[in-house]
Amino acid sequence: MTTETVAAICDRYRRSQTAATEKAVELLRRGEIMALPTETVYGLAADARNAIAVAKIFEAKERPRFDPLIVHLPDRNWLERVAVVHESLVRDLVNKLWPGPFTIVLPKTEIIPDIVTAGLETVAVRISAHPVFSEIVSEFGGPLAAPSANRFGKVSPTTAQHVDDELHGRIPLIVDGGATAHGLESTVVHVTNGTIEILRPGPITKDALSAFGKVINAASPEKITAPGQLSSHYAPQKKLMLVDDLQSFAVPENKRAGVLSFREPSSGDFTATRVLSQRGDLREAAANLFHMLRELDADPEIDLIIAERVPEQGLGAAIMDRLRRAAHSDARLLPR
Ligand code: TXA
Ligand code: MG
Repeated sequence: MTTETVAAICDRYRRSQTAATEKAVELLRRGEIMALPTETVYGLAADARNAIAVAKIFEAKERPRFDPLIVHLPDRNWLERVAVVHESLVRDLVNKLWPGPFTIVLPKTEIIPDIVTAGLETVAVRISAHPVFSEIVSEFGGPLAAPSANRFGKVSPTTAQHVDDELHGRIPLIVDGGATAHGLESTVVHVTNGTIEILRPGPITKDALSAFGKVINAASPEKITAPGQLSSHYAPQKKLMLVDDLQSFAVPENKRAGVLSFREPSSGDFTATRVLSQRGDLREAAANLFHMLRELDADPEIDLIIAERVPEQGLGAAIMDRLRRAAHSDARLLPR
């Protein structure tokens, strides 16, 4: 893939921003991903309602696991469409701090696919104040999922050049809006019963948040560095077994098993079947993973989930990471 870098406001010609916006919006509508400047760091953006487009983000970043992504809204009116505003404190915070480097985690609505939140029932949302990002997301007219535009394990990029150094050839477009203002990722908070919990410190400081209510730091710093390990991460309640070969697998006696197969519907004796991707496409498999796992977990007809291993290339590594953790989850030991 060739990566094109389009200058936006950096050359101060209004025309170039319009051209960059048109190009970006057209690609977003086609389900493509791209790097966009925000006031914090560059983000790798995709249509948040398109699960396949979101899978491409994980693929380009080479993340060995799925992490929940931040959803960037076109404007304040979008908040209630993607999330449930459960406390007046939430309203106070977003009305004062948006647009800006402030992200809030709220219960999600149906329109956000599970891959965006890595299966969590909550979604992280913010509105960026960057003029280029703001114009693109408004023209696009829908929410954009965007993590920082770095490869896994690397620091967040604050210039278009940083993005190009890491993602050249992996994404079709980088919109260059110059160096970012904060150079540091947004503050991420969670609100419960009038208390603001800081999940990730950032440009909106604890002091600034104190003006709104009681503020506490997240209980465990691991939550920040390893979000995939969050205890609130969705884990199936049912026992999940990983198998190499479905054909030779025999469902244990007295067990009703549901199967999560990679491609071919299995000929085995399964009570329920979900196929991650008929054509063996890892992007499609990633896009389907969380909701299919959830469906099998909720199916009252089965008491065991059998998952078939997927090839561990590209997105397959992240899919397998998720399946291994689901298989090792202590939750399976809990009585139902
Ligand atoms: O400034 C920023 O926030 C940048 C720009 C591009 O907006 N984005 C960014 O995204 O830093 P990312 O994916 O690199 O970091 C997202 C953070 C992670 O720490 C993640 O765990 C947390 O937000 N997060 C996202 N959804 C969450 C959820 N539902 N519950 C708890 N934490 C969540
Ligand atoms: Mg990041």
